Amino acid sequence: MGRMRGRRLAAWLALGGLAGAALAACGGDAAGQAATVPTGEVSFTQHVQPILLRSCVGCHGGTAGLWLDRYETVMQGSANGPVIVPGEPEQSELYLRITGRKQPAMPIGGRKLKPEQIETIRLWIAQGAKEN
Ligand code: HEC
Repeated sequence: MGRMRGRRLAAWLALGGLAGAALAACGGDAAGQAATVPTGEVSFTQHVQPILLRSCVGCHGGTAGLWLDRYETVMQGSANGPVIVPGEPEQSELYLRITGRKQPAMPIGGRKLKPEQIETIRLWIAQGAKEN
């Protein structure tokens, strides 16, 4: 019927992200925590995944050869190989893309992640990119 369900879903996810950001001012939900750098151990589920779900899976959820929706697929990488090297953010394709040190920078055509979000992902990789 030509209804672009995928795009509608992406729009809903984006709206959810905005609502999460607004809530962050008063609450400590998972989406809100992404706006600050966690102290102590960074959790994939609590801190990293919400960022990927909000900013990346619109494209990396079945296209672009890289799925970023789940831990397993993030670690699996793309046809070009892994995008995360545990313990080595500087060698992790994903980190180099979100910092713009490798082009095209991610998210393509979108707003760059906040510095706190980039630092959260860097720390998670540096701490071993655990499934936690
Ligand atoms: C608008 C669509 C879009 C969004 C949003 C997007 N990407 Fe991408 N991404 C692409 C495309 C297309 C490519 C392949 C382009 C290339 O690498 O030449 C790509 C490539 C990548 C690669 C390299 C994959 C490889 O094979 O080495 C990584 C890592 C990546 N994206 C991470 C991310 C992350 C992390 C986010 C969220 C912060 C994100 N992307 C958001 C479209 C997108």
